Amino acid sequence: MKNQEAWDTLRRECAGCQGCELGRTRSNLVFGVGNPESEIMLIGEGPGEQEDLQGVPFVGPAGKLLDSMLQMIDLDRNKVYIANMVKCRPPRNRDPQPAEQVACRGWLNRQIELVDPKIIVCLGRIAAMGIIKDDFRITREHGQWFTLGGRMYMATYHPSALLRDPSKRPEAFMDLRALRKEIREICTRTY
Ligand code: URA
Repeated sequence: MKNQEAWDTLRRECAGCQGCELGRTRSNLVFGVGNPESEIMLIGEGPGEQEDLQGVPFVGPAGKLLDSMLQMIDLDRNKVYIANMVKCRPPRNRDPQPAEQVACRGWLNRQIELVDPKIIVCLGRIAAMGIIKDDFRITREHGQWFTLGGRMYMATYHPSALLRDPSKRPEAFMDLRALRKEIREICTRTY
């Protein structure tokens, strides 16, 4: 794998991070999963219970839905790279606090640098506000493309939100179709 040493160092350093309180209460670091050489990166919010227990992003109920969403557009978690805004589980699945996101941001920034994706998809409003713009409105701006620093960014509903409110699923499906179209247009490999 390209940059293997850099990835190993990053993961090791991240595992030792005590930049915020979450490092003390987590069971496992939830670093990232998928293909680190993909041109497509997905960014979620933070680990839930199952992720914390297994040390892998999106393996709980929201993860199962994410897998079927990816399948709808011929993707799977081995074709993309998936990471979260924060790498340690916030207690009782609360939103990661701004200070926790800031403390964790350097790790995510390094992951983005190493993957160097052409497309970043933010899953949910927390990731969209952290990555695209701080006043991002998910209901109004999901599915829209933003160009930032030579990459294409889009946000869609978080799979947990789609589990809570299935009436949003058709809109999320339109976002996925827009993603599939963008992949066809700008990615150099086939997915
Ligand atoms: N929700 C997220 O945002 N990330 C995960 O890894 C799991 C659930």
